[in-house]
Amino acid sequence: MASWGLQNRLSRMIDPSTGTSVMLACDHGYFMGPTQKLEQPRKTIEPLIPFADALSVTRGILRQCVDPNWKVPILLRVSGGASIMKEDLSDEEITVSMDDALRLNVSGISLSIFVGSSHEKQTLLSLSRLVDQGERVGMPVMAITAVGKELEKRDSRYLSLACRLAAEIGAHVVKTYYCEDFGRVVNGCPVPLVVAGGPKLKTETDAFELAFSALREGAVGVDMGRNIWQNEHPVAMIKAIRSIVHDKATVKEATDLFQQELTDSERLRNPITA
Ligand code: R5P
Repeated sequence: MASWGLQNRLSRMIDPSTGTSVMLACDHGYFMGPTQKLEQPRKTIEPLIPFADALSVTRGILRQCVDPNWKVPILLRVSGGASIMKEDLSDEEITVSMDDALRLNVSGISLSIFVGSSHEKQTLLSLSRLVDQGERVGMPVMAITAVGKELEKRDSRYLSLACRLAAEIGAHVVKTYYCEDFGRVVNGCPVPLVVAGGPKLKTETDAFELAFSALREGAVGVDMGRNIWQNEHPVAMIKAIRSIVHDKATVKEATDLFQQELTDSERLRNPITA
């Protein structure tokens, strides 16, 4: 049984009444720099906050671009050390002390593990260190299964291995990618799983399908970034994703909601012509 503090922090991010969560991922800059549409994080993040159950960011963006008065639980990215300038992205270590995470009053911390990569051991040991510290102070740890270079395919065989390793070491939540036969990944992972959206998909419906299928197959939610804030209509997008995650909306219902949001905002902008 998790400590009261750890359970309390977790329940801020994963709604205990539904057991589900829409986490908003905005931590990409830690290795990608000023990614498209996240050049000015505050501008991107602020309108989405009312619809996010948690916000994934790094320490620097939290301090500079997130108002401490916003009522959103923070999932703090605490791994880094590599960048897209390098061939090998797996060379990550812990970048934030537990003391600072506590001082920032975050609800959880996250790090990537690179199973099958040249830095597999280093990242798995970082996870185990964070879990030890997290258990001591009541801080949930999310492991993010990045896909190793050697295992580029996002398949259920690889992802079920990576997620299970994370859970065995003690991660409290795992973030992974959706893949064919995702049920196998869920089945082998005894802790809650959320899915990342990955690079922006062709259509909104593709993103709704990803979220819908992941939830149907057992994920407790999403930690989604680019498919929300790289869309022309990020607020409509996060609302539609929320309807899938929290209200069990179908892909069609989410698409209809998205379209309705566009119509409503057009009417507000142009009351005469709309
Ligand atoms: C990678 O930078 C992070 O783990 C992201 O938080 C994760 O990939 C989710 O964001 P997206 O939905 O854009 O893939």
